[in-house]
Amino acid sequence: MKYPPIHIRDVPIAKMEEKNGWNISEFRLPITGESGSSTTVFHSIFKPGSTHSKHLHSRCPEIAMYLKGHGLVGQGTGRTNVRAGHFRVMPANSEHFFHNETKDSDAEVIGFYIGAKDVEDTGYKYCGPVTEHDLNTERAGFNEGILVHIDDVEPEKMDEGDGWSITDFRLPISKKNGSTTTVFNAKFMPGSIHKKHMHTNCEEIYYIVSGRGIAGAVVKKLKSKQDIFTIFQRVLSTGYTTLVIVSQYTL
Ligand SMILES: [Fe+2]
Repeated sequence: MKYPPIHIRDVPIAKMEEKNGWNISEFRLPITGESGSSTTVFHSIFKPGSTHSKHLHSRCPEIAMYLKGHGLVGQGTGRTNVRAGHFRVMPANSEHFFHNETKDSDAEVIGFYIGAKDVEDTGYKYCGPVTEHDLNTERAGFNEGILVHIDDVEPEKMDEGDGWSITDFRLPISKKNGSTTTVFNAKFMPGSIHKKHMHTNCEEIYYIVSGRGIAGAVVKKLKSKQDIFTIFQRVLSTGYTTLVIVSQYTL
């Protein structure tokens, strides 16, 4: 494959500067501009007490998905709690943070810097620490960006004749809630399949949350754009029977 699957365990931990707000236990960049993508993908583990302090990205929006654990998040002046299953869009230039305030639970977060080739290309700016005041402010939700939980999103009715034989396919983030990037969450019970297809107008990146399966990719040169199908995978445990994937399409 021109864009082979990447397993997160094979990606080295990135050395991020604590003085710039990066107090994250493990931060990896499995897909960047260097690997031929127009969007950078990150994977992070926040052990109890760890934080990505207040910062913003002046040149791109960020999308995050919370896979495990929970934490306190800020967006602009808003504060709220997130837990596994939340999907979030942080608009460009909007200050944000994540803090694992638990004593005993790791948080796992993946996400995308849309249209940025690496962290520097996002226009990263450190804005300050998370304070006692932030911890004690009422957690009343956000006025900026998008925050949805997958349990509150209805499954889509996709056309099987068009190749969609997926057990449960949801679009937590899309133009319906004001995003120019679409994120899907797909569950494949044993035997289900998303048949051969391509997207002529965007790249697709996906992350295997659990389960295992077979994937195929061919890059076809189109008149002016390439269709790029890139995947990276996580734990491929034989114990799972359901393949769960989260992904984004960027126009
Ligand atoms: Fe960020």
